Amino acid sequence: MRTQVGIIGAGPAGLLLSHLLHLRGIDSVVLETRNRDQIESTIRAGVLEQGTMDLLTEAGVGARMKAEGALHHGFELAFEGKRRRIDLTGLTGHSITVYAQHEVLKDLVAARVAANGALRFGVSETSIHGIDSDKPSIRYRHEGETCELQCDFVIGCDGSQGVSRASIPQALRKDYERVYPFGWFGILCEGPPSSDELIYARHERGFALVSTRSPNVQRMYFQCDPKDSVENWSDDCIWAELHARVDSHDGQRIVDGKIFQKNIVGMRSFVSATMQHGRLFLAGDAAHIVPPTGAKGLNLAVADVRVLTQALNAFYVENRTDLLDSYSETALKRIWRAEHFSYWMTSMMHRIEGASPFEQQLQVAELEYVTTSRAAATAMAENYVGVAAV
Ligand code: FAD
Ligand code: DHB
Repeated sequence: MRTQVGIIGAGPAGLLLSHLLHLRGIDSVVLETRNRDQIESTIRAGVLEQGTMDLLTEAGVGARMKAEGALHHGFELAFEGKRRRIDLTGLTGHSITVYAQHEVLKDLVAARVAANGALRFGVSETSIHGIDSDKPSIRYRHEGETCELQCDFVIGCDGSQGVSRASIPQALRKDYERVYPFGWFGILCEGPPSSDELIYARHERGFALVSTRSPNVQRMYFQCDPKDSVENWSDDCIWAELHARVDSHDGQRIVDGKIFQKNIVGMRSFVSATMQHGRLFLAGDAAHIVPPTGAKGLNLAVADVRVLTQALNAFYVENRTDLLDSYSETALKRIWRAEHFSYWMTSMMHRIEGASPFEQQLQVAELEYVTTSRAAATAMAENYVGVAAV
């Protein structure tokens, strides 16, 4: 089989890229190890920046997001017994939308299917060949057969555990990494929102985050041991922990509900530089990971796709290679800004085992500063909504 652009991974990066290319008359095939049901039901991100919403809208997949997503004009920081608001819209003129990643994926898959897009679920043994030539290919197994996809370009959108990144020779790549000694315990529960806006809480017992999914489904997280297991936590223990970390700041109780989903994720910062070699380009989590505190991962994947779509379009329409050549450099500017922001927010909000009383007071001083200085609050808000200068 032959196509113009072979895409590995049907996450937000791979599906959105495929659809934007289709709208520009460029053919692609998306190969995905999991099945449709799995990708449409895995619970992950929830916060979309304005730029992400704009690109989804431009791709023609924004209708349900606009109708069902919740526009948020600010969020709250809770610490030392107080809750203070960061006025995103007042400080930056921008807002964010809370709309679950798996809903974005449902919208993208539906759009690809409606456009007769080539989308292969359940592939295995994916491998990449010939990226140093102008005829690269992807080999994989699908429905019991060994297949080869010949293409002009291979785009690795296969997330942090994929095969693409390793296809760039290690000698040409520099990996930057930081592993955090904590994780997030996430729950979905039935019930009304506890607050009109997200609450990021710093507490001596550890970080907690109150988010939402819909008027009837809520999303909450609390800092935990990344090696812990969800089986060790009864619903009562989870609620006791969340109440202890969030309610204490102003006495308002978060609303308990029936928990129907629990998961634990580790936290890591990672950047692969370069993000390209020959005819192979990486996008999204395949090239970089952020800890979730700044809500940047999905948004960065979408930002890579914007840059790559323009570069591939310039190649096919104008026979230009300059935007492809500078892809990694262009994308990495935004990525490093988001890496710093996510690291900064994570470090300020989490309980750090072994931190001295002095270091703990520095966290509090920083929170005091970003919630009282307009300049500092604006810097935080610009980064959160995704318009910080890079
Ligand atoms: P993925 O979504 O990981 O997609 C990669 C796809 O490739 C997968 O479907 C995988 O099955 C497939 N694949 C892997 N290997 C192969 C192979 N060899 N062959 C074929 N297919 C393969 N981000 C935000 O912006 N905001 C948030 O609020 C936020 N919150 C988060 C909360 C949690 C708990 C977690 C875990 C993440 C959060 N993120 C958030 C991060 C966000 O979910 C990711 O950054 C995003 O999914 C990256 O998209 P992607 O398309 O690059 O990769
Ligand atoms: C959500 C996830 C995040 O990482 C974050 O910073 C805010 C919200 C969420 O899943 O709703």
